[in-house]
Amino acid sequence: MIPTAILINAFQQRFGCKGNPDSSEEFYIYAAPGRVNLIGEHTDYNGGFVFPGAVEQSIVAVLRPNGSNQIHAYAHDLDLQASFAIDDPDGPKPLHFRYIYGVVRELLSAGIEVKGFDVVYGGDVPLGAGMSSSAALECCFATALNDIYGQGRLDRMTLARIGQATEHKYVGVMCGIMDQFASMHGREGSLMRLDCRSGEFAYFPWHPQGYRLVLVNSCVKHELVGSPYNDRRMSCERVAQLAGVETLRDCSWQQLETLRPQLSDEDYRRARYVLGETDRVMAVCEALERDDYETVGQQMYLTHEGLRRDYEVSCDEIDFLVDEARRCGVTGSRIMGGGFGGCTINLVRDEVYDTFAAAVQERYSERFGVACQLIPVVIGDGARRITTDKQ
Ligand code: GLA
Repeated sequence: MIPTAILINAFQQRFGCKGNPDSSEEFYIYAAPGRVNLIGEHTDYNGGFVFPGAVEQSIVAVLRPNGSNQIHAYAHDLDLQASFAIDDPDGPKPLHFRYIYGVVRELLSAGIEVKGFDVVYGGDVPLGAGMSSSAALECCFATALNDIYGQGRLDRMTLARIGQATEHKYVGVMCGIMDQFASMHGREGSLMRLDCRSGEFAYFPWHPQGYRLVLVNSCVKHELVGSPYNDRRMSCERVAQLAGVETLRDCSWQQLETLRPQLSDEDYRRARYVLGETDRVMAVCEALERDDYETVGQQMYLTHEGLRRDYEVSCDEIDFLVDEARRCGVTGSRIMGGGFGGCTINLVRDEVYDTFAAAVQERYSERFGVACQLIPVVIGDGARRITTDKQ
């Protein structure tokens, strides 16, 4: 549940109330969700396909222009605060506030005349779980400030790219577009297939009869800042360059095999994973057309194998969760998102669910001495304004 009432309360205590607290002019409230991804991992920055959906878990911001050039921000859940000037060339030091600063600076470059504001924000996207809490944060602020200062002039894809540019330039994670795309374009009950090369996308209603998606959070904190995520991307770029293509999406199996003698074993395996993943996304799309969820699940397991052995972005705890899923007869399971911890995504038949849930929790804490957390996936809407009368 998004704690909107708590955030409003915190905003009023911190920044005061100007007039009628129920008036929609008193403050603006915006929300943007995290995401899941059925299949298509580490394909976005390779020009390939991804299959994400927005989730109900979101970041919510309560904000009000303050007539100055200062931003006063309070991250409620972390109990962190910062004040910085919009035209400060360096911006705030704490990483957490660089997401907001980056979005503001990128909006300014895009011609949106953002001015100072006060804001309190928080939410229920678990941090470090690989559900893209940072994209949710970027998209929440990008959407709000584009509405407030730009009359909604920039379209959703442009706002997603502003979020991505924030990661690249202000945080140092050379991510693809998937997370920000999903947070901006999500639609209740639908997954989306995005072609990251052309930017074309389509909605796929997701109501798998007899199956459900559930995340299992290993509670190993996934942190892409300073992680080998950027190294993975560099491997892919090296191979693409040698193959004479812009991204690995345009590299064929045959080209890769021809290049093999020139590649380090590591770069070869990274590229082999990416080419395989493109094939798997296609296989999943075909399987979905005939409601063949068993094939979808098999492809998810294969993705995990690739991410574990070739792309090497898994860890013991996550491998244990996937092995446990397989043991319990779960249809499909794999590490989700950037990797190095976080969640597995699991496609589970209804009749297997209870046994799996009980077994995985018990055996995980037995093995690692910490609890894992089950998160049922509910596919929700993308970034949006929330009006107080709806609460
Ligand atoms: C992170 C990045 C995305 C994508 C995934 C892996 O979530 O932000 O752009 O590359 O990892 O699929």
